[in-house]
Amino acid sequence: MKDAKYLKMAMEYRNAIDALMGNKEFADTVLKGGQVVNVITREIYKADIAIKHKYILLVGDCKDLIGPETTVIDVTGKYLSPGFIDSHMHFESSMLTITEFSRLSIPSGTTTLVADPHEIGNALGPVGMKAMADEIDNVPSNVYLVVPSLTPDCPDLETAGYDTSSKDMEDLLNYKNIIGIGELQGFSNAKHVYRNTPEIITDLLASTIYAKSKNMVVDGNAPELFGKELAAHIIAAAGKCSCHETTTKEEAAEKLRQGVYLFMREGSTQKNMAECIRAVTEEKMDSRRCILATDDMVAADLETLGHMNEIVRRTIKQGIRPEEAIQMVTINPATYFGLDHVGVLSPGKQADIAIIEDIYEMTIAGVFLKGKLVSSKKNY
Ligand SMILES: [Fe+2]
Repeated sequence: MKDAKYLKMAMEYRNAIDALMGNKEFADTVLKGGQVVNVITREIYKADIAIKHKYILLVGDCKDLIGPETTVIDVTGKYLSPGFIDSHMHFESSMLTITEFSRLSIPSGTTTLVADPHEIGNALGPVGMKAMADEIDNVPSNVYLVVPSLTPDCPDLETAGYDTSSKDMEDLLNYKNIIGIGELQGFSNAKHVYRNTPEIITDLLASTIYAKSKNMVVDGNAPELFGKELAAHIIAAAGKCSCHETTTKEEAAEKLRQGVYLFMREGSTQKNMAECIRAVTEEKMDSRRCILATDDMVAADLETLGHMNEIVRRTIKQGIRPEEAIQMVTINPATYFGLDHVGVLSPGKQADIAIIEDIYEMTIAGVFLKGKLVSSKKNY
């Protein structure tokens, strides 16, 4: 193996295994005495968390991993959750760069952002989307893009700066920090598009099938679709489909039954979570495919209300237990996107951790990102 990146990782893993096996190495940091939110088993219990490099070493009794150089942080009385994920958002709506959005959202516990750059895509096409993908390299948060398969949204009705189509997909989907296709523009109203511009569907299918061949996600966008039209939309998304524009309990229930990942939108402009969550609270549906997302957040809300912590807080107020609401911003989206390194607290995962002061109010005391304390109310 000659690639320096893999050799560096191998050394870090070796250090971690040496620490666990009692061979001269110790944890860099131990968070001691907290209540861990286990999003795999939906439990909360007392446990320490040990960190080495950017990875979680152990969740449990970590006293043997404390060495002379280990930083020990007492988190007694606080809750330790995986860092939060915003699964569908647009940086352009916030009027902030990715860098500034990251800076504002980290203190509220958000460590991963999945963004659809279709607004810059409409204006500048692949050049603009790649510029955003480049900015990600210098941002502390984990940021991924899902690119539009189609711009403008409505060909022949709108004049975009650039017409994105399947001709651009191979290039875009092989670019760094891009993990799939974003909301299926142009196919939200399945019947209308099928009758009037069927060529869109064929071109869209070429893009979604290519994405699937690379094991990438394809986000759907299926407002008010039921039955056969919803089925057509799911097939257009090459089988695994999400929707972030669901507005009624009945629609939420239909989508969950048809296997759609339900992105419950709760941002600055659209607030659909309280209605969608009734499929879980009233119909007792399984919430494993329920995910919280903001879509559009303005900077003032980020500063004054918070980010995903505020959305989780509102979800708890609708009658969902904290550990289940936290699943909707951690393991559920990580599973959907195939982001195996984030979303849970277990050995070998990236040490992205939100330290929660009050689990019902979702006040955040500190945030670890890639093993480092990047935000803190106290001098830990
Ligand atoms: Fe959106």
